[in-house]
Amino acid sequence: MTRYSRVIGTGGYLPEEVRTNEQISQTVDTSDSWIIERTGIKSRRIAGADETASSMAEIAARQAIAAANCDPEEIDLIIVATGTPDRVYPSTGCLLQRRLGIKNCVAFDVQAACSGSIFALSIADQYIKSGAAKKVLVVGSEICSRLVDWTDRGTCILFGDGAGAVLLGASDDAGILSTHIHSDGEYEELLYCPNPQVAIEANKDEAGYIKMRGNEVFKVAVNTLGRIVDETLAANNMQQSDVDWLVPHQANTRIIAATAKKLKMSMNNVILTLENQGNTSSASVLLALNEGIRDGRIQRGQVVLLEAFGAGFTWGSALIKY
Ligand code: COA
Repeated sequence: MTRYSRVIGTGGYLPEEVRTNEQISQTVDTSDSWIIERTGIKSRRIAGADETASSMAEIAARQAIAAANCDPEEIDLIIVATGTPDRVYPSTGCLLQRRLGIKNCVAFDVQAACSGSIFALSIADQYIKSGAAKKVLVVGSEICSRLVDWTDRGTCILFGDGAGAVLLGASDDAGILSTHIHSDGEYEELLYCPNPQVAIEANKDEAGYIKMRGNEVFKVAVNTLGRIVDETLAANNMQQSDVDWLVPHQANTRIIAATAKKLKMSMNNVILTLENQGNTSSASVLLALNEGIRDGRIQRGQVVLLEAFGAGFTWGSALIKY
């Protein structure tokens, strides 16, 4: 009998502070209407001074564990996707394990930029399908606001903070149908964040802020996500019409609309959160999944396509029967 990874609980956390486009347009040369038209974003959340990726991950994770009615000690593996870890080490996964008070599990981080939660889901699914784990907690948690240069209008309008979590459990009933992950390191220069403290001498003066050639990233993202839709449907012998919901990485409404078009899907079947969250990097897909499940739009038995694209470039998808 096939062994599947089934979604048994989800959670999400958004910090309290709301930063609107209006507020940003007071410090850089931009406007609310420009940002809405080009990205679909109206506001984003900003983590408080005492918050970290692990503190936000804990809140989202506890929600997912409670929704699954699971004893935390049953969790075999914690995978945290983050590009904004509390510390270089220990991993945010280990810090989360400590916060959750779980003694007997393995915990580590995955770094695949905005595709992080899809990469983490893919790894979790391999562990469960192989029988190596029965319950895996996957969390995406990001404090993008601390990696953003708030004087760069090309990037500071896009990003936000938050955490999303999903608890997967082994099941004989269908769950994750397939995952597909890819990387192409050739695109480093289009989107990267320096790490001045460990950089070679020649790069030491480069500040540790996100650097992006947005227009070029946009074009690659649209093409790549179109291809991942084809790949995912073909692997499952499915048609566009077999997919009930698209839960995309929330980078830009125009990129999301292009993927929905590829699926011949109405935007009514897309879970959109970016209007009030911006791009929360590896947290975004799990935050959107949590929202769609908790508000009752995504129902048990429906087919859900998760996808993401990020620095690297990295990209991937997960097709789930919820
Ligand atoms: N407000 C006003 N003008 C802005 C601006 C802002 N916030 N940011 C850039 N501009 C200007 C540019 O300077 C440029 O001016 P110019 O024509 O005088 O040179 C003009 O707008 C067009 O810039 P361009 O970069 O071509 O705009 P765009 O339509 O591609 O939109 C992004 C910019 C960043 C919104 C868009 O490219 C994007 O979303 N890209 C994908 C980024 C992404 O998702 N990254 C994360 C991947 S996970």
